[in-house]
Amino acid sequence: MCSLGALMRIVALGLVLMSFAGQSYGHLQYGFYKGKCTVRHKDNIVEKIVAKEVRKAYRKDNSIVAALLRLQFHDCFVNGCDASILLDGNNTEKTAFPNQSVRGYDLIDTIKKRLERVCPEIVSCADIIAIATRDAISLATLLTRAGKPWKFNVQTGRRDGKVSNASNTVDLPPSTISVKDSIKLFQKKGLNATDMVFLLGGHTVGVTHCFFIQNRLYNFKNTTKPDPTMNPTLVRALRRRCPQRRSSGNNTINLDQNRFSSLTVDNSYYKQLLLNKGILQFDQDLASDRRTKNAVKLIAKSTYEEFNINFAQAIVKMQAVDVITDPKKGQIRRSCRAVTPYEWYALNMMSRDVEWLDMSSTLSSQI
Ligand code: HEM
Repeated sequence: MCSLGALMRIVALGLVLMSFAGQSYGHLQYGFYKGKCTVRHKDNIVEKIVAKEVRKAYRKDNSIVAALLRLQFHDCFVNGCDASILLDGNNTEKTAFPNQSVRGYDLIDTIKKRLERVCPEIVSCADIIAIATRDAISLATLLTRAGKPWKFNVQTGRRDGKVSNASNTVDLPPSTISVKDSIKLFQKKGLNATDMVFLLGGHTVGVTHCFFIQNRLYNFKNTTKPDPTMNPTLVRALRRRCPQRRSSGNNTINLDQNRFSSLTVDNSYYKQLLLNKGILQFDQDLASDRRTKNAVKLIAKSTYEEFNINFAQAIVKMQAVDVITDPKKGQIRRSCRAVTPYEWYALNMMSRDVEWLDMSSTLSSQI
């Protein structure tokens, strides 16, 4: 891990090159929708529509950044990034305990409706999540030195899954998971320990409910005392916000305790971990576990540009987990909340999908 600084620079360079060279994870592509939804010469209309809706939502409530980041993570870790988390119904993923506090569904619906009006059944719900998450991150990062919004490229070309089962959410890490088990879980998804530590940068925005930290504040490992690794001043402050009454379980706490930065995507969460101000036990463990502590220290020291680039790279990698790109295996839903019935799909979409498949393989061979 000592070479993480060098690694970060290599990764950063790799990301920049990747964005321009059109390389891809899996069969995803940069610019997949180019030429597929053209309205009066506005070729990047798909990304423009998504960006506009995310901006509107952010102006109303900037916690949409946290909502989308968590939605993306919980989608990708269960059945891959296939928008299966969006499906309504009995016993679908969204009904499972770990997804109870997941938010952002309405925004995805709004974006889908707008896209359907302009280019029906072209943009997958899974791609909408990916583009919207990127746009939200971009709104929550500091401006570049040139004073411009910081934005990275995302890959597209995902198709939507047709299956969503609450029981599959066993793949989501519980709040009590150890660093060792979490590394194993991320590895199962093709993400290494460094990716994992960067992805936890998602906790630089967003909140947790008191419910998840009550034991750290009052009865750590049945000692009837708070977690000794938590900064005592923080324990006192959190006890006021999360009193021992059951009803306080719904109060929320910022995961990044730097109040000037709890809504900004930056490395301040890692700095807080070094001050023993991690909120979830898992967060704090990252700073002490031998497998991750050097990475935490190095990220805490990195510049915001280095952090942004590496966080983006980890997000792009996560967005490629077990994606469906084969038209025979996935579909483009009409509504993100329901699978499009097969009969309708066969009648209207199959032939066009096959044409696209031909077009996209020609495109990739030209890049
Ligand atoms: C081992 C890994 C992880 C664990 C154990 C974990 C656990 C948690 C828990 C317990 C909460 C609080 C939920 C609540 O109070 O309802 C939370 C919130 C959150 N998590 Fe994670 N998480 C992990 C990884 C990630 C990753 C990889 C991301 C994104 C890339 C992420 C993004 C978020 C965000 C943004 C929130 C705040 C959501 C909001 O404010 O609505 N988490 N996480």
